[in-house]
Amino acid sequence: MTDAIQIERERGVLILRLNRPDKKNALTGAMYSRLALALEQADADAEINAVLISGSSECFTAGNDIADFLEQPPSSLDSPVFHFMLNLLECSKPVIAAVAGAAVGIGTTLLLHCDLVYVSRDARLRMPFVNLGLCPEFGSSLLLPRLLGHARASQLLLLGEGFSGEQAAAWGIATEALASGEAALAKAREMALRFESLPPEAVRTSKQLMKAPDREQLRRVIEEEGALFTQRLRSPEAVAALSGFINRH
Ligand code: COA
Repeated sequence: MTDAIQIERERGVLILRLNRPDKKNALTGAMYSRLALALEQADADAEINAVLISGSSECFTAGNDIADFLEQPPSSLDSPVFHFMLNLLECSKPVIAAVAGAAVGIGTTLLLHCDLVYVSRDARLRMPFVNLGLCPEFGSSLLLPRLLGHARASQLLLLGEGFSGEQAAAWGIATEALASGEAALAKAREMALRFESLPPEAVRTSKQLMKAPDREQLRRVIEEEGALFTQRLRSPEAVAALSGFINRH
């Protein structure tokens, strides 16, 4: 399972690659724990200037592993998924995401916490929380209405409608949409490496200034959403929808 997160270092960039292709890079508790630890280490390592999170050029991630949701749902804010969320929220170094193919659930909401997001134009983003009997997580109930307005956020969060990488860039969820998955990965890598030539303290201070005003509120919202989300995972609505995915063939 450790290989499901491939960790590499390219000069001052720590690259975290989601690598579970047979399950569309769906995230398990062990994968969240590995990501959480890597973010903590990157933050503490003076040699690291930036973190790059990617999947493959075909798939970012299908979101939380649905079998895990049924078999070992997160039960408290001490669960691996919340460690990952809080470490991404607190990361003082720039975090760059490269997205191609599917980015579902937390695969979309985590992008709201990255600093630069490069997507392929035909990437397929979606937050089907309600469709699965769940509710928004990772601060998305706060950040999306603020970014898009209530009406469009409702289209994405209440109806669970999908949208393309091109739309993500037009709406400000992504920095830029590129022609292909390979191009998105290459651009994200290029921008992550660019931080080598920028003064690190100035970068950190500037990120801190942009993030600080919302940090306390976001932490509170993430906890509130998390408590409701973990309750909803045990609801008959969610158990039926999640079992429906597992038994769909
Ligand atoms: N959790 C667990 N397994 C998952 C998964 C998930 N979130 N998403 C995909 N998989 C598995 C499938 O069960 C399948 O496994 P199998 O070959 O053993 O049957 C494999 O990954 C390939 O998935 P498949 O659906 O055949 O690929 P696709 O290219 O047709 O569709 C997605 C890709 C991502 C659009 C589709 O898999 C999907 O909608 N996944 C669920 C996403 C989701 O609801 N996530 C939770 C959000 S809170």
